[in-house]
Order: sequence, then C-alpha cells, then structure tokens
Amino acid sequence: MTAADRWRQQLEDWKIPEALLAAVEESPYGWSKKLWKRRAARAVELDRNSPTLDLVRDLADGGSVIDVGAGTGRASLPLVRDGYRVTMVEPNQAMLDGLAELKGEDEFEVIAGRWPAIAGEVEPHAVALSAHVVYDVPEVAPFLKALDQTATRGVVLELTPAHPWVNLGPLYRELHGLERPLGPTIDDLAAVVGEAVGAEPTIQRWSRPTDMVFDTVEEAIEFTAQRLVLPRGRWPELEERLLPRLTGRAGHWQIEPTERELCTLWWRSNSPEGGATPE
Ligand SMILES: C[S@@+](CC[C@H](N)C(=O)[O-])C[C@H]1O[C@@H](n2cnc3c(N)ncnc32)[C@H](O)[C@@H]1O
Repeated sequence: MTAADRWRQQLEDWKIPEALLAAVEESPYGWSKKLWKRRAARAVELDRNSPTLDLVRDLADGGSVIDVGAGTGRASLPLVRDGYRVTMVEPNQAMLDGLAELKGEDEFEVIAGRWPAIAGEVEPHAVALSAHVVYDVPEVAPFLKALDQTATRGVVLELTPAHPWVNLGPLYRELHGLERPLGPTIDDLAAVVGEAVGAEPTIQRWSRPTDMVFDTVEEAIEFTAQRLVLPRGRWPELEERLLPRLTGRAGHWQIEPTERELCTLWWRSNSPEGGATPE
C-alpha cells in the first residue's frame, strides 16, 4: 500500500454510519458563516506572527502567495494587510460570500473552484499556502503535486498533528458507542509528500490559544452536537458532559483544552526558480 493509499483509507474510515446521519437534520460537516467569520477575525489577531506566517513571509520574500482552501481568509488575511499580493482559492459558496464581504476592506484576488481541478488556470506564485484543508482531501497526492508545481519558492501547509476530529473520539464512544479513527496524522502526510513530490518536508510543531469562541453556552452545545450527529432530544446528555469543560464569560465561551496543537509542514518547491513569479 502506498502512503497516498494509506491516507485515503484512513479518511474513508471516518465515514459516519447512515443510521446516525438519518436521525439529524444538519450535516455534521457544516459551518455557520457567523462562526467562521468570528473565528477568522480572532485568528487574524492571534496569528499575525505565527510560525506559519513567519515562514511564508521568509519564503515569499515579497513575492505573491496563493492560499488554497482559503475559507473566509483566516490564514492569509494578515499577509493581505502586510501588502502581499494574495490569491484565495475556495470552492464553497458560503465561504465565497464571506470573502466577497471582506473585499470591500481588503485587496485580494478570489478564484472560485476546487484544487487541483482549477490548478491549470492559475499562474505561478512564490508560495503556495494551504491551512487546515488536507484532512478534507482523500486524493491528497495530486493536491500536493499541484501546489508544488504552482509555487516557485515553497509550499507551506498548516494542520493539526492528527485529523481534527480525533478529539471528538471519546464523546462518539460515550454517546454512540462508536469507535473513531486516530489518524491520519502529520507523519502520514509527510510520507505522501515524499512519495508524490520527492521532497523531504520540514515539520515545526507549535501551539496557541484556540480561535473557537462561542457567544453563548447554547451555541457551544449546538456546534458540538452537530459534529456529533446528536439529535436535539439527546442534547442534554451532551450538555452534562460539556458544561464542566466550558470556560469563559458571557460572549466569550471556549471548550477545554483551550490551547491548540498545530504544525507547519513545508518544503522548497521543485518548480524552476525565477519562473513567471508575479511580484
Ligand atoms: C477547515 S476550512 C480552513 C479554511 C482556512 N484555510 C483556515 O485555515 O481557516 C477548509 C476549507 O478548505 C476548502 N476545501 C476543501 N477541499 C478543497 C479543495 N479540494 N480545494 C480547495 N478548497 C478546498 C473548504 O471549502 C473549506 O473552506
């Protein structure tokens, strides 16, 4: 089995049983635009000088940046505000709507589409950045190859050390009697980079306070219940387990642990240096 096959297989193992999905109205994978925008705004403050952004600035050296899977711009807005030329790629209409609202205040380019399908239409950029996207991508080898081919200087990925839903495992076990996978992990991704791109990536591990902040206790419970495919009638069972882990104050509630482990994985690009890098 190749590293890319192992990656795909581990993501397939996350499939939620149909019987659980049939009992709820909301998709467990959805995001409310309100929550995303709040998260993006907070992260822009938290991450101005994150290891990921410091590295992108060093590698880009004033050149342009493409942010693949931009969401509502959390990862690359600080670069826009530094004056970098940034292109954001995003397939999801709700996220694109959020970006359109930001465009009144900030200058950046948006490409609506899915990577790597639209990679052929994209001009080279000094740095290709993709933050918190790869765990959504079963076919990760072509995704990584296209990033490598688009970047003239380097590729920078930000992600959690393991699949972001791993920490929901104990609640899935308690509330549904369902075992959830423990991967894939950053090391699985590094193996795919070696196999698909032929580069040995560098991994930097760091942590910072979480950017998930809820206005109310009810919002925290609703968000977690959605991720857990828990029908509304069973929310009190979740509330009982979540209340001891909620910390904060009115308008600013967080779920413990409030420190978030993160990784920056990067490599220098294989594309010819000095290609058509737009400045
Ligand atoms: C968890 S969000 C992260 C957003 C942002 N990068 C951040 O760090 O806040 C993942 C985003 O990747 C997008 N996405 C998922 N698969 C993608 C793909 N194949 N190509 C481009 N974007 C993708 C989703 O629509 C979503 O907006």
